[in-house]
Amino acid sequence: MKITVVGAGNVGAAVAQRLADKELGNEVVMVDVIEGMPQGKGLDMYESGPVEGSDSRVIGTNSYEDTANSDIVVITAGIARKPGMSRDDLQTTNAGIVKSVTEQVAAKSPKAYLIVVSNPLDVMTYVAMKVSGFERSRVMGMAGILDTARFRTFISMELKVSIEDVTAFVLGGHGDSMVPLPRYSTVAGIPLPELMDQATIDRLVKRTRDGGIEIVNFLKTGSAYYAPSAAAVQMVEAIVKDKKRILPCAVYLQGEYGIKDVVVGVPIKIGKNGMEEIIQIKLTPDEQAALNKSANDVKANMAKLSL
Ligand code: LAC
Repeated sequence: MKITVVGAGNVGAAVAQRLADKELGNEVVMVDVIEGMPQGKGLDMYESGPVEGSDSRVIGTNSYEDTANSDIVVITAGIARKPGMSRDDLQTTNAGIVKSVTEQVAAKSPKAYLIVVSNPLDVMTYVAMKVSGFERSRVMGMAGILDTARFRTFISMELKVSIEDVTAFVLGGHGDSMVPLPRYSTVAGIPLPELMDQATIDRLVKRTRDGGIEIVNFLKTGSAYYAPSAAAVQMVEAIVKDKKRILPCAVYLQGEYGIKDVVVGVPIKIGKNGMEEIIQIKLTPDEQAALNKSANDVKANMAKLSL
């Protein structure tokens, strides 16, 4: 397995390190435009191999030549938010960056699976799919795992129970209109509405929606990267190990959930063939309306693209 990470910033470097620590790729390539930075971080990670017991060969590079024939490419390139910015404010700049890197990635690794992490996530996943020309099963965006991880963390903090027993379900775009579903979020199988009152659920849902900006406001110069990188690596692992995991990921819908021609987060089965199935569940009218609104928000942003 050869895995390329595009972007050696905070998210990209954290992804590469987690890949190496878990020995998910025998080759991990980090590519970035900044000279020396990916090389330095890559060598540093390679040198952690003896301690971690990992034979992943990590290299950093400025050349897409070195990424050739990757099996999986994680795209993290782009600028991050500053306080006061929404993810959508990044669209124009990051669309140009994601377009350019996807062209280079697709030319060198025409068989790769693409996992997109750049924001605004849903629109950037669409850009990568469009520009690469890859079928939708090979282009997936990472957001739902991060959003559910945040929701799970807040549920676990609130109830003082192990995160291992908490599952959560979030649909929709990775934006202010994301749709956490409390009735499908459980502690040891017990639905959330049985365990806390509506006001508490609403507070945790709001904190989940605002989870990204909460970190940005602390960091001031960038956005989250520990949880985002863990989430992206979970998708890589599901493909590498053909785990058939059911995970919320951003994919291009073609009629599923009554939604068409837009990338939005839904539960998918993810394995060695990438997105192997979209899991459709019956939504209440309120949930469907919230999902439609979220999809329409993404669509409105997609309409502003000039690819
Ligand atoms: C977040 C950004 C990275 O949710 O989208 O933290």
